[in-house]
Amino acid sequence: MDYVNGPGRNHLFVPGPVNIPDQVIRAMSRNNEDYRSPAIPALTKTLLEDVKKIFKTTTGTPFLIPTTGTGAWESALTNTLSPGDRIVSFVIGQFSLLWVDQQQRLKFNVDVVESEWGRGADLDILESKLASDSAHTIKAICIVHNETATGVTNNLAKVRQLLDAYQHPALLLVDGVSSICALDFRMDEWGVDVAITGSQKALSLPTGIGFVVASPKAIEASKSAKSLRVFFDWSDYLKFYKMGTYWPYTPSIQLLYGLRAALDLIFEEGLENIIARHNRLGTATRLAVEAWGLKNCTQEEEWFSDTVTAVVVPPYIDGAEIVRRAWKRYNLSLGLGLNKVAGKVFRIGHLGNLNELQLLGALAGVEMILKDVGYPVKLGSGVAAASAYLQNNIPLIPSRI
Ligand SMILES: Cc1ncc(COP(=O)(O)O)c(C=O)c1O
Repeated sequence: MDYVNGPGRNHLFVPGPVNIPDQVIRAMSRNNEDYRSPAIPALTKTLLEDVKKIFKTTTGTPFLIPTTGTGAWESALTNTLSPGDRIVSFVIGQFSLLWVDQQQRLKFNVDVVESEWGRGADLDILESKLASDSAHTIKAICIVHNETATGVTNNLAKVRQLLDAYQHPALLLVDGVSSICALDFRMDEWGVDVAITGSQKALSLPTGIGFVVASPKAIEASKSAKSLRVFFDWSDYLKFYKMGTYWPYTPSIQLLYGLRAALDLIFEEGLENIIARHNRLGTATRLAVEAWGLKNCTQEEEWFSDTVTAVVVPPYIDGAEIVRRAWKRYNLSLGLGLNKVAGKVFRIGHLGNLNELQLLGALAGVEMILKDVGYPVKLGSGVAAASAYLQNNIPLIPSRI
């Protein structure tokens, strides 16, 4: 039973936690097991190898930590840096803001670069900081690949280009929480030193696994990093990896089997096909927003996100009321505007286990809600724009060809 029941399926369009495939739910419906039996290490070995494929790395070391994205952030920072280290970090929305707050509370010397919410990380400022840092006082660049609060995707290839152009040795720490496994992400090619995500986002699992993947350079840095860490210490994992038993403490057996099923589904569809599907979902959503005569919070096309769209509402409408109505009247879950953009936007999450027809249902719901709250929308206009595009662009389902 739902805690508060509604008929039919809830249309879950928040940008995480996302819909879990039925196959994954079934795979998780099982008893506990002894994680010290030979079965769990054998299963874990396959998971670690396959997680690397999702991050597009052959040289990275993955850690599957019982935590959320926030814990994965902490793991990335405390294993590679020492208190007082200078790091350059960008604030472009609520999640990058929270990461900076964590960095400050962990006593790093955070050089914060702020942008207006709706814009990407200011890479011109990064360039000037790198250019004037011949002494290499900057130890790390911390950047959120996809800012979930505003629907802004940063250009990581450009960040790598700048670091290379100035031959700067700073570590590149990337929050890929709402990007990895949905957007184009290339750990090795972009020289990312630590990349993280959470199981409840594009991997379409329940919350509970923090994925942290460390480059050889990050592993090297962890040997001298002085930040206090216990639960998140990579060296505990590495010790157990060497022993072949993998787990320094008890993993969730159900989540491990769920992850196996999720990865199998991902490889069956194909990572590139998944990225293309997210591009279709993002494009269709943006076309609908345009047809409604509303603005995308993301100011320039170069930053458009294929996993979440923050829609700006006119000043006489409260974005939070749209979200309330969506749930109360239409069994549709949309994302609230957060902090600086609270009430000014609502968010449509389009990531994870989701197809185009589900999206059209959500867009139809949004149109009715917009009308409910007094916005003069033509019913069907967004759905028509989105479906005209989708009808021309949806390929055959890869596994059914
Ligand atoms: C980009 C980003 N980073 C970090 C987080 C924090 O993750 P969690 O809520 O799993 O701790 C979120 C959560 O939505 C996020 O969107």
